[in-house]
Parts: sequence; structure tokens; C-alpha cells
Amino acid sequence: MINVKRYLFCIVFVFFFSCSNKQEKTYKIGFSQTGINDEWRKSMNQAMKIQAAFYPEIELKILEGQDDIDDQIKDIEALIAENVDILIVSPVQAAPITPIVERAFKKGIQVLIVDRKINGENYTAYLGADNYQVGTNAANYLASLSTESKRIIEIKGLLGSSPASERSSGFNNIITNTPNLNIVKRIQGNWESYSIKDSLSRVLDTNKNIDYIFAHNDRMALGAWEVLKEKGLEKSIKIVGVDGLNGPNGGIKHVQDQVFMATILYPTGGEEAIKLAVKILNGEKVAKRNILETTVIDSRNADILKNQFDKITQQQNDIEKQQDKIQLQEKIYFTQNNRLKILLGLLITSLLLAAYSIYSANSIRKKKRELEIRNNKITIQRNQIEKFAEEVKISNDAKVNFFTGLSHEFKTPITLILSSIESLSENNSIKDNKLIREVGLIYNNSKRLLRLINQLLDFRKIEDRKFVLKASETNLYEFSTRIFEDFKREAQKRNLDFSIKTNDENLKIFIDRNLMDKVYFNLLSNAFKFTPDNGSIHINIVNEANSNFVKIHFKDSGIGIPKKDLQNIFQAFFQASNNNKASSGIGLHLSKEFVEMHKGTIDVSSKHGTEFILTLYKGNAHLSLDEIIYEPDLVDNSVLNFNSDFEENEFVEVGVEDDKERYSILIIEDNSDLIKYLRNKLIGEYDVHLSDGSDGIEKAFEIVPDIIICDINLSDKTGFEICEILKKDLRASHIPVIMLTALNNKESYIKGLESGADLYLTKPFSFAVLNQSVKTLIYNREKLRYYFINNIHKINTDQSFGSIEQDFLSKINQIISDNLDNSKFSVENLASALNISRVQLYRKTKAILGVSISDYIQNIRLDKAKTLLQETQLTISEIAYATGFSSPNYFSTSFKNKFGNSPKEYRGS
Ligand code: FRU
Repeated sequence: MINVKRYLFCIVFVFFFSCSNKQEKTYKIGFSQTGINDEWRKSMNQAMKIQAAFYPEIELKILEGQDDIDDQIKDIEALIAENVDILIVSPVQAAPITPIVERAFKKGIQVLIVDRKINGENYTAYLGADNYQVGTNAANYLASLSTESKRIIEIKGLLGSSPASERSSGFNNIITNTPNLNIVKRIQGNWESYSIKDSLSRVLDTNKNIDYIFAHNDRMALGAWEVLKEKGLEKSIKIVGVDGLNGPNGGIKHVQDQVFMATILYPTGGEEAIKLAVKILNGEKVAKRNILETTVIDSRNADILKNQFDKITQQQNDIEKQQDKIQLQEKIYFTQNNRLKILLGLLITSLLLAAYSIYSANSIRKKKRELEIRNNKITIQRNQIEKFAEEVKISNDAKVNFFTGLSHEFKTPITLILSSIESLSENNSIKDNKLIREVGLIYNNSKRLLRLINQLLDFRKIEDRKFVLKASETNLYEFSTRIFEDFKREAQKRNLDFSIKTNDENLKIFIDRNLMDKVYFNLLSNAFKFTPDNGSIHINIVNEANSNFVKIHFKDSGIGIPKKDLQNIFQAFFQASNNNKASSGIGLHLSKEFVEMHKGTIDVSSKHGTEFILTLYKGNAHLSLDEIIYEPDLVDNSVLNFNSDFEENEFVEVGVEDDKERYSILIIEDNSDLIKYLRNKLIGEYDVHLSDGSDGIEKAFEIVPDIIICDINLSDKTGFEICEILKKDLRASHIPVIMLTALNNKESYIKGLESGADLYLTKPFSFAVLNQSVKTLIYNREKLRYYFINNIHKINTDQSFGSIEQDFLSKINQIISDNLDNSKFSVENLASALNISRVQLYRKTKAILGVSISDYIQNIRLDKAKTLLQETQLTISEIAYATGFSSPNYFSTSFKNKFGNSPKEYRGS
């Protein structure tokens, strides 16, 4: 394509640049003229130009000179420098111009001397009239006029120029041999009229009876006539000049006007010079001397000659006009020729473009066809591949789905097995150590199985890119320590030096606890697997100062990984060549994926064991908002840890003492399976009340349970709404609420907290975690209760509380103290003053204070009585009535029961 373009460009270029309006000149003729001040030279130049115009191949360059020697030398040098093909010279003088002409000739330039001569023979040819003959013609003419004695004055041309000397010698030669003719005086001129006037005037003054004046040219002859006229001698002295130019000031006219008696024709030879030069240039043989004809012009032939010359001039003018016309025609011709060429060029270009377009269109069509065929082939192949891939995918999906399904299927029975074992662990009646060990074995292996199945499911999830990072701010050391604890017993058993250390126990970073737990578990499992007994495994958490990263080193003294395997160790299904133990080969792959989801890296090195280094970002700038969730601080999940201690029969005590009053739980949940499951799990320890959500609030008010477990997705009101209502109502505001939800995101967590929930557990939850959470919340409630009961008096004044319970207690205390001396003041009175039922009052105070309301009133009365006994002189009876006891005896008995002493003994002490 580029070549074609270049080709077209060349064609256009050639056409445009070959266009010109001038014919190519082959020869250059340089002419050095003596000067331009007289008509003879002008006429010579004109004749040359006219003649040269007949030769289109010739370029004529005339340097016109100043009738000055130095000037002419410079002109000739310039023409030599221009490499003229032929040099024509009319030398001002012979001697000074000879060397420069010889130099040109010796350089190989053809030299044609015209009119005046140089010395020597170093030139190609000479052209001009014979000046000697001019002189003899003049003398012979005068001799022919009379036989009487005549006196002559000779006016000579420029000294040193050949015409002057030759004309003079020709003239004198004849005069000398003609007895009646005498040259009286010779005057030296320089070809111009002014040069002779003074001398002639002087000669005439001293020489009388002069008959003739012979001047070497017509210009000096005219000057002589003017002198004669001044002196009144113009009639008596006859003048003969030289040149015989035609024209208003020419010699012929002067002859016609009888100013001159005669003039000798001295042709310029301009026309002949060009003709001769062309011959020389064309390599034709030419004579060295080329002499032009000369003749005498006097009154007898002046008219004829004038007519002839006029005709010649007329013809010359015609020729000039013709030449102008020809030039114009040429110009037009060249212009049109150029246009034609351009048009032709454009036509050719268009044709070429058209041809090229056709060619291109054809090749494009051809290529298109080829491409279509290829495309079809590719489409067929692609379809085949797609079909094949689809089949493979279907088959693969079927297999993976089968395995995934199977894995899920495995999960349920294993979860049930684990739940059953957890139940067994809570059964204190099992005392048989062997049985306990067996159960522990089942438990640990079930856990292992579950982990493997989870790994399989995680792998599938990673493949499907279904994992979403849920990073929460986590104390890294605490997090690591908890996992470390899981492996401690194993380490002890195998006498491994197992340690964890850090340089920053307070460092918190954002991790997905669930995923990072799997990473840790995998790395530690591997370390334990490949480290022989008595070896070492160390976890070192390094918070790198001045860096954005924290590094977690897992270093073991195990069998290590061969160097060649290191780079493949994180590939799925890869097994190191020295690994003879059964393994799935996806643990490290998943770990790497999980770490990379945290934008972190995992590196491995192996020297005297293996070291894995996790590099994780500090802060959360590297995570997107969707990847950050809020999770409460790490839950103490020690209840989960019992499994690792299983073999040692150290079941964690999770039950409450049988003889104690059982706590009540209200479960608000509409999933019948889950409700059944929870009821069965909790019934042994708690009074379990159930609601499907429709009457959850009513039941909570009615039962006033010790704790509520509430689902979020309920058909009537959502768990959030139920919780909010309960928490705002005095009757239930003190009851801890655990929210259960499948939603695990920041918003629902915040919503849960806003609704007043005390704990937020996401499904699937571990029953053990739920159970422990229930216990913890009840325990915390007990602590609060203890606080309340021991700070009864503070409650009125201490404004730092402010919860609904605090207000409630303040109100109760106020009403009781207002009715302290009223022995008729009853629980019913208090309940109606508070605008709640007697049972609700009973349950509420029991829940928050741990004692019945009547005992509470009694306690306040007795505490007040104790103060009065201490601080007043009132009698015991007075104090009894003042504190609302119906009789002093009843007061004394009650006082002794509470404080161990009777009122009398107390005051005495
Ligand atoms: C012209 C001229 C003529 C004369 C010739 C001689 O310049 O002076 O009048 O005949 O030169 O070279």
C-alpha cells in the first residue's frame, strides 16, 4: 500500500516538475563588449541578440563594459568563471587585453575576437572588416576626386586599438604614393568627438587651406564638422568618416545631408559573430580570419544604401516582432503544455488510482472471503470448544455439586454427632474414663472431619469467588493466643517447644476472624504434622515500627520443604515431594487465597524446618467499606475449648446447681425445627417458654423471663421491633435479649444494638456459644442485682444510673419511704401506685433485686428502724410503729431474724 502511494506521488512529482516554460539551453555564449556609449556598439549588440534568438539552444550573455581596460578584464574573468562555451571579445585595446584572452583560450574555451584585435594568435577565430582596407578605401576615394594638390588632416582612433593603427597605415600607405595628396597634420583621438575638438581647432588655426579631413570614425568626423562649422570652414573642408551607420545620427544620414563627403562602411558584424560562434560550437571547421565587406558611401550611393539598410532594419524589426510573437507563442505553448502535462498527470494518477482501487477492492474482497472462511472455521472450532467446555463444565459441575452436596450432607450428621457429644460432655453422670476417652476421640475426629469438609466447601466457594471479606477490628495477639491455646495440649503431649510471642500485645488489625482462623489453623496443623516429637513451633507476631505492616511468623523445626517444591506449595492439590502423609493439598492454597483477600501476602522459606510469614496491613485503608464489619470483641469461647481437653476428661462445667431455683428462658422463634432443637437443648437447665413471634411481647410481659432468645425474621413483628418494645417497657426492660439472625452485616448488627439487644449471634451459631452467652448474661444480671440490693439507699440520689430500672427503683423507694409508718401499706398498694399488676411488680423486683417485693419493703423498714435505733432516743415501740410494723413484737422478731440481735440488744451494744 505504501509502495503504491509512493509510486503515485512520484508520478505526480515528475509531471509537475517536468513542466517548464523554457527550452533547455545547451550552449552559453559570453560576449565582452568594450562599452555601450555609442550607436555602433548598440547596433552590434542588437544584431547579436536578434541572431541568437534564432538558436533556442543558445544562451547569450553580454557584459557591456565601460571602454575601460580593467573593467573589461573583470568582465572576461567573470565569463570564464561562468564556464561559457565560447567567449566573444571586442578588446578595448590589444596589448592589455591579450593575456586574459589567452588564459581563457588556454583553459580550453573557444575564443572569437571581433572588431578590434589582440596581439598574437591565441584565439579560435577573428571576425571584422579589414581596417587596413578601410584606410586604403578612404585614401583611394580622396585620390579619385582630383589631381590637384590637396591638404589633408587625419584624425586617429584610440591609440593602441587595432582599427586605429590599421586604418591609419592603410590610409597613409596610399597617400604616400599619391603625390597630390598631403597629410598636413595627424590628430590623436579616442573614437569620441570631444577627444579631437580642441586639437583640431588649434590645427586649423595654424594650418590654412586644408581640403580634407579623414576621421577614423563618424563620431569623431561629426565633432570635426562642428569645429569647422564654428570656424565657417564647413563648406571648404570636406570630411570623410568611418562606420556608415544607418539611422538619424548615422554616417549615411550625414552623407545625405552633405555634412560628410563620404563615410567608409564598417559593419558591426553582430549577426555574423553569432553565426560563426554557433559554427564553432557545433564543431564545424571555421577560418581563423573572417573578413567582412567594406565600401565607400558618398552622395552617389547613400540613398541606395540607406534604402537597403532601412529594409534590413525593417526586416530586423519584423524579425524582432516575430521573435516576440514566437516568444509569446512559446510562452503560451509552454503554459498549455504544462497544463496538458498536469492534466495528463492527473489523468494517469486517476487511472492509476482507479486501477489501484479496483485492485484493492479485489484483494479486500479476496481477503474478506478468506477471513470469512477462517472466521467460520474459528466459529465452528469455538462452538466445538464451547460445547466441549460446556460438557466438561456440566460434568465438572455435576461432580463438584455432587461433592459439595455430599459435603453438605456430611456436615449435618457430623454437626449432630458433635452436638450429641457436647450434650454428653454436659452429662456429669458419665464417670467411666475409658468411655470418656472414646467419646473424646469421636469428638476430635468429628471435628477434624468437619474441618476437612469445610475446607472442601471453602475451596468451592473460592473457585466461585463467593467469599466476601468481613473484616473486623481484632486484637491480633488475643486472637492468635486463642488459637494457640487450641494446640497447646497437643504440644505438651508431644513435648514440643510451642510458644507465642509479640512485641505489641495491644495491636489491633482488621481481619476476617473466620477466615484468618482457618489460615492459622492450617499453618499450625501443618507445623504439628511435620514436626517430630520434642521439636519446636513458634509463633512470633512482629509489629513493624514505621511500617504499615505486621508480620506473623510460624516457624517449626520440622522436616521442611524441598527447595524445588517451595514455589508450588500454594498451588491447589500440590503435595511436597517429601510429604508422605495423607493430605488434601488445598489447605495452603486456601490460606494464600484468604490472606490475599486481606491484601496481605504469605511467604514460605525452608531452612532447618519451615517458616511461613504472613504480612498483613495495619489499619483499614486497604479495605473497601463493604469489607468492614463491626464485631464485638472476641467472645470468651473457652466453652468450645473443652474439646481439645477431651481426652483428659476435663469437661467444662456448664450446668447450674440442681437445688437452685431454675432460670426461665423465653424463645421467640418461628422455625419449628430450631425452636424444638433449642428447647431440647435448654430444657434440662432452664424453664423454657416458647413463642412463634405472634405473642412474644405479651409472653415476655406475662412471664418476665430471666432471658429472651429472639429471632429477627419473624412474620408479625421483626425481632428488632420486639426487642425495642420490650426494652422500653418497665415490665421487661431489665430482661437480657439475645438476637439470632442469619444476617451478618454491619447494618443489622448496628440495628440490633440500637433496638437494645444485649447480644447478637449470627446463624449458624454454635450451641455451646449460645449456651455460654446465656450463662454470661444471667451472671451479669445477677451482678447487677447484687449491686442494686446493696445500694438501695444510694439509688435515690445517685443520678449516674438513669436506666429504666433505676427510675423504677427510685419510684419504689420513694413510695415505700412515704408509707414507712403505714402498717397497712401493702404490695397491692405499691403495685397500683406504680400502675402495674401485683404479679408483674413481684416478678420485676424479683428479677432486678433478687428478692420478693414484700421482703424488699420489710428490709427497708428494718434498715430504717436500725438507723432510728442508732440515731434517736425513740422507744422500741415508737420505732416499730414509725417504720410501719403493726406490733412491737412482730418488729422485734423480724429485726432479730435479719440482723441476729433483738432491737433492744442492738441498741445496748
Ligand atoms: C565604435 C567605434 C567605431 C569604430 C570602431 C573601431 O566604438 O569607435 O566608431 O569604427 O569602434 O573599433
